[in-house]
Amino acid sequence: MAFPATSTCMKCHATIATDRPAIEKLAEFAHSKQPIPWVRVYKVLPGVTWTHRKHLGAGVQCETCHGTVSDLDAMSETTAVTGMASCVSCHQARSASAACAVCHAWPAK
Ligand code: HEC
Ligand code: HEC
Ligand code: HEC
Ligand code: HEC
Repeated sequence: MAFPATSTCMKCHATIATDRPAIEKLAEFAHSKQPIPWVRVYKVLPGVTWTHRKHLGAGVQCETCHGTVSDLDAMSETTAVTGMASCVSCHQARSASAACAVCHAWPAK
């Protein structure tokens, strides 16, 4: 549910597909100890309270929020899960609180 450390990639890519341009780029990030500039696909508006932990703890599956990621050739946004309407409609359906303060820390800090 987070982005793996570059060293995790390099466990394989020190030897696998090292001649491909994308993997040469990966090796450069590993070598220079720069973080990989990941392209974010799913991102909630800054300031909205979000945690994966509570959701997985409540038994919500990855696919419920992200779609059947395993069928994708390249990662893309196939659901509207970062929109308020889908947060709130699931909270209502699952009897989780839909009070504004659950997701919004108003008044602004
Ligand atoms: C458990 C081993 C393993 C790990 C860990 C791993 N990969 Fe791979 N990766 C592979 C294999 C196997 C391929 C397919 C190579 C091929 O096509 O021959 C691949 C392919 C790729 C390709 C496609 C290369 C191309 O252009 O064809 C990219 C990009 C890539 N990996 C990036 C990553 C990144 C980024 C990470 C870390 C987040 C990572 N990999 C972690 C095994 C791994
Ligand atoms: C209740 C809905 C929900 C569930 C269940 C869920 N996610 Fe997410 N996921 C989100 C939201 C919302 C974000 C955007 C969070 C942010 O902005 O930090 C996100 C972000 C991510 C990201 C960063 C993606 C990107 O494009 O930047 C990854 C990776 C991810 N989720 C993986 C998973 C995995 C793996 C599982 C299952 C183990 C999972 N998620 C389960 C809603 C969910
Ligand atoms: C598919 C269903 C589903 C979706 C979609 C979903 N949630 Fe939830 N969420 C839940 C459930 C169920 C809980 C209750 C967990 C519990 O009570 O322990 C929860 C709990 C939470 C909590 C913790 C509340 C607390 O009391 O600590 C926050 C914060 C939250 N959700 C925010 C969001 C946001 C923001 C989104 C949209 C980006 C979202 N949720 C989308 C089902 C969902
Ligand atoms: C379960 C989570 C959740 C609850 C509960 C919730 N919101 Fe939201 N809200 C969000 C998310 C996620 C966004 C960001 C939507 C987007 O990026 O499109 C948002 C965005 C907003 C925005 C737009 C903010 C902006 O800066 O553009 C307003 C206004 C708002 N919510 C008001 C409310 C009010 C009022 C309530 C209570 C009646 C409420 N929200 C309850 C998740 C929630």
